[in-house]
Amino acid sequence: MGEKKPTRQEALELLHRYNESDSLRKHAYAVEGVMRFIGRKRGGDEETWGIIGLIHDLDYEKFADQHCQKTGEILREHGWPEEYIRAALSHGWGICSEVAPETELEKYLYAIDELTGLVVTTALIRPSKSVMDVQVKSVKNKWKDKRFAAGVDRSIIEKGAQMLGVPLEELIDDTIKGMQEVAEAIGLKGNPS
Ligand SMILES: [Fe+2]
Ligand SMILES: [Fe+2]
Repeated sequence: MGEKKPTRQEALELLHRYNESDSLRKHAYAVEGVMRFIGRKRGGDEETWGIIGLIHDLDYEKFADQHCQKTGEILREHGWPEEYIRAALSHGWGICSEVAPETELEKYLYAIDELTGLVVTTALIRPSKSVMDVQVKSVKNKWKDKRFAAGVDRSIIEKGAQMLGVPLEELIDDTIKGMQEVAEAIGLKGNPS
């Protein structure tokens, strides 16, 4: 592939080949949706932002103990540009990779990855089970409740927002809006009432 940009179709095929789990696929679509929304808003190349979101956890199902490292290997085997690979790896900075987020795209990926999980749990406790009803204040209200979405590390999100110099509220708002655009694909459209 050389330095040719990967297409969404290629990214999707890799995602599906390496991830059979419905919840991992939905997480990928959620992160893609948010990255597209923010990339567009920030005047970036939406397609690049989205594709990196889609494959950031590529190796997680099959190589959880080598998370990030295997993603790098797989993408290199497929000739993906280094720009995409380093961006994908930077989401696990300090956890499964040494690649610190540097570009705006990388910092946003780092900041919103965990946040999508908090928005999912916030949607699921609503009677509608819909992300369309989630508000910034509902997510903020659960920030300090450690038992709520216990797996979501709030400190990573805060660190990401700090790196970006973006208020937490704005980051949460962007994440909700990005996920609303893909509500159907992530199973959070809810039931019409
Ligand atoms: Fe990850
Ligand atoms: Fe992730």
